[in-house]
Amino acid sequence: MMFKGLIVAVSLTLAVSPSLALAGPLPEVSAGSGNPDYQWNAPYPEKNAALAAVGDASAGEEAYKAYCAACHLPSGGGNADGSIPQLAGQHRTVLIKQLADIRAGLRANPTMYPLAIELSDAQALADVATYIATLCIPRGAGQYEAPDAAKQIAYGKMLFEKDCGQCHGLNGDGMAEKFYPVLAGQHYAYLLRQLVDIRDGKRGNAHPEMVRLIAKYDNAQLVAISAYQASLATRPRGWATQPRFCSPE
Ligand code: HEC
Ligand code: HEC
Repeated sequence: MMFKGLIVAVSLTLAVSPSLALAGPLPEVSAGSGNPDYQWNAPYPEKNAALAAVGDASAGEEAYKAYCAACHLPSGGGNADGSIPQLAGQHRTVLIKQLADIRAGLRANPTMYPLAIELSDAQALADVATYIATLCIPRGAGQYEAPDAAKQIAYGKMLFEKDCGQCHGLNGDGMAEKFYPVLAGQHYAYLLRQLVDIRDGKRGNAHPEMVRLIAKYDNAQLVAISAYQASLATRPRGWATQPRFCSPE
């Protein structure tokens, strides 16, 4: 059996400065979508305020370079090994929801939590999200690379179009107004890791309808879906205006 990338070591060679590492206790992650009382995307003050704020992209750029670029890279492209997601061109609403959920303990992210809470307030969340949303999506997404790639991608496409396209879009471009993320341009190994976490109830803030759909997939099917999603980034230029891919070199 082959689950390439299923075990992705989050090996961070980056030194997080001691003052940041000491920043506040990690909130306990609530049971999220595994909890019968869980209400997906329930409103709470910080998220609402950030969504309502008008983001200042240049203030966001400064914060991004100070607190985020060390891991997510100045381009936003993250790491093809799946340890760090690609963020560039993600919908502003999605970025705000994910950041606010991480800060509120609704989505576990112990690696990033100390940095996420460096953002001072809802305005700072709106600023950084506004900036990241303006970045073009790099074309170097990590791909599924194995001799059976063509077969996996074809199978994954069939599954994705049946169960996922209605929310994430057939091109993987998500829906800003509904908080559905862009998936096109994301790394294979990160996608696979998230899908396993979502299926196994480890990603607290996931949409219950998605959890229900993914629950029936085995690891091999999640590999195929991830291989297909990652392949969306290899399409020729101009296949979609949203999301915006960087021009080929
Ligand atoms: C120490 C490394 C590190 C730093 C610094 C960092 N992040 Fe992250 N970030 C991560 C990791 C690792 C994940 C993925 C967590 C997971 O696997 O669930 C992540 C996930 C995210 C996500 C969710 C992405 C998605 O696809 O759902 C967002 C949004 C994000 N980071 C934004 C930021 C912002 C904004 C900053 C700066 C304030 C920042 N990150 C700083 C490591 C980091
Ligand atoms: C009902 C709409 C809906 C459906 C159907 C759905 N998703 Fe999602 N998906 C979401 C939302 C919303 C999120 C963001 C997590 C959150 O905050 O709830 C998400 C997150 C994700 C992520 C993590 C992205 C990231 O950047 O971390 C992946 C991967 C994903 N979905 C894949 C899938 C796949 C594969 C399917 C089909 C089997 C699917 N989704 C079906 C709404 C949906």
